[in-house]
Formats: sequence, structure tokens, C-alpha cells
Amino acid sequence: MENGQIEKKKRVFSAIKPTGNPTLGNYLGTMQYWGGMADEYDCLFSVADLHAITVAIEPKDLRENSKRLFALLIAVGVDPEKCILFMQSHVAAHSELCWLLNNYTMFGEARRMTQFKEKSEKAPENVNVGLFDYPVLMAADILLYQADIVPVGEDQLQHVELCRNIAQRFNSRYSPTFVMPEGKVPKSGARIYSLSDPTAKMGKSDGNDIGSVFILDTPEVIMKKFKRAVTDSDTRVCASPDKQGITNLLTIYAALTGGTVESAEREFENSDYAAFKTRVGEAAVARLEPVRTAYERLRRNDAELLDIMKSGAAKAERLARRTLEKVYKKIGFVR
Ligand code: TYM
Repeated sequence: MENGQIEKKKRVFSAIKPTGNPTLGNYLGTMQYWGGMADEYDCLFSVADLHAITVAIEPKDLRENSKRLFALLIAVGVDPEKCILFMQSHVAAHSELCWLLNNYTMFGEARRMTQFKEKSEKAPENVNVGLFDYPVLMAADILLYQADIVPVGEDQLQHVELCRNIAQRFNSRYSPTFVMPEGKVPKSGARIYSLSDPTAKMGKSDGNDIGSVFILDTPEVIMKKFKRAVTDSDTRVCASPDKQGITNLLTIYAALTGGTVESAEREFENSDYAAFKTRVGEAAVARLEPVRTAYERLRRNDAELLDIMKSGAAKAERLARRTLEKVYKKIGFVR
């Protein structure tokens, strides 16, 4: 704050889509940091419901998942009084900007997206255009709010890179319009793997597989999943490329306790696997149990939740329209 000028806070935007059941991976990879960012940054967080229909989903599941995720974001610490928290589909500007940006996105660059390739292979019967266009909608989410920082897990960095390419292309075709956003991943926990297959990402849509710890699992279920976590035939608790199960558990412990994998290795150098797995489970329960309690309280009153959605959308709408109008004018639309 020099010469009496008020320094503008940097803007943060992130979102999560309401498919499946939110996991410890979502929590450690990004959600756990969102609440705390509001002190330093100007924050917007969204439930990316438009993104959820690129894979087949039942209407009742979309509705319930959306409310659950919205309440869960508040339960993990996102304060709707300090941040703008809203449902993506409540702000029509997201779909509008997506269409406009489609025309500044190259087919070839969208085709290179790893997630598109993976999802196409997983559900070859439903490789729809929405699935292909998904990263462009994500770019619209970010660029609408002129976000400087996009906190995400590692798997979304490629999409943020594409967003930067689109912004760059638009800015140089017309004139500076969009802020160039930067993806930000945490030091530990940017990629959490499944407890039953430590080569695969821990995912929301993996049913009740014991490999995924869900944020809303009960303490008993969480402990059971950690105790059954796949390890190896060695006995030393240390990180190494041929000990992916143990490395993943060390990463989870580090991300839960704010430490590093190295500090976790030192803490457990004299432990056996069983004692180590129990401690990681307990650390997860200690973090997730208060979240579950807060969540249950919030879900007792859906009307209140809908009110919060409405006021969040109104605030987001104002900011989004400002950017969108600028974009329409630059392209040459009559306004
Ligand atoms: P989604 O809903 O798949 O995941 C939400 C966030 O959780 C992170 N994440 C993980 N982090 C660590 N380990 C894991 N196993 C793990 N699984 C998921 C993701 O990286 C993500 O940060 N397209 C996005 C949602 C979105 C978005 C946006 C994000 C829509 N618009 C704009 C940022 C900015 C997605 O599907 O995330």
C-alpha cells in the first residue's frame, strides 16, 4: 500500500463438479485450502454442475450431488460471507462465454487433453461433444472472473494451461481482455492415489470401492479403508517408486498434517506397516469428522442452502457480465 493506494487483492477461482462422491483426494488436493484463502485473496468458488452432464447422470443424482457438494464446501470452511460461492448453472454467462471461446480453441489442442482421452476410453458408448468441449467451459469459468490464481489438483493443470492458451490467443487477436491465470497445486497432496490400487487416481466415481475414502465416510469406514490399504512385502515405512502404496500413505499423512513426506518418513521410521496405517487413518478421521458434523447440520435446512446459492449467483453474475460484455464488444457484436 504505497502512496495511499489500496492494493487490489488477487482473484482466486476454483470449482468442483458434482459427479460421484467427493473424496479425500478432492479435499487434500485443493478443497482444504479454499476457506483459508479468503483472508488473502478475493475468492470465488463454484459447484461446476454444467460439467457434470458430460458423463451420464440421473436427474435425481445431479440434484442431490449438487446440494451435497454445495453444503460440503461450506462444511470444509468456505464462508459464503467472505467468498462468492455459487452454482455454475445459475450464471448463464458461463455457457455464453464457452460458446464464444470455442471459436478461439483449436480442435487439435482440445484433442490432446489427457482427461478427454481417458474418459473416452472408459465410456466409449458416450463420447459426446460436451466431453470434448469440457475444458473450454472450464476456461470460461476462470476467464469470466479474471482470476489470477486457480487452486487445483495436478490432474487439472493441463486444462488450466489450455485456458491460458485460449486467453493468450484472444488477447493478441483483439487487445488485452483476460487476465492470465495460473494453476496452483499444493506441495503435498496434489495427486492422491487409490488405497486399493496405488497406481490409479483416487476418484469420486469409483462407487463404494475400498480404494476411495469419501469425505463423508464414517470414522469406522475410514479406519477400515486405511487398514486394508494395499502396501508391499517390505517392512520399512519410506517413500520410493517401487513402494507406491506406502508413498501414497505418506503423502496423505503429510497433506493431512501440513508436513512433508520426509518429515512423515522420520516420524514413522520405527513403525511397522499396521501401526503406520492406523495413524494415517486416525489423522484422516480427525480432519474429516468435524466436516461431516458441520455438513449434517447444514443439510437439515435445504431452504437456507438455496438462499445462499441465490445470493452467491447474484454476486457472481455481476462480475461475469462485465467480462462477457467486453468480450462481445471486442468481437464485434452489436450491443
Ligand atoms: P473435479 O471435480 O474432478 O475435482 C475437483 C478438484 O479436486 C482435485 N482432485 C484431486 N486432487 C488430488 N488427488 C486426487 N486424487 C484428486 N482428484 C481430484 C482436482 O484436481 C480438482 O482441483 N474440471 C474440474 C472442475 C472445474 C474447475 C473449473 C476447476 C470446473 N471449472 C475452473 C478449476 C477452475 C474438475 O472436474 O474437477
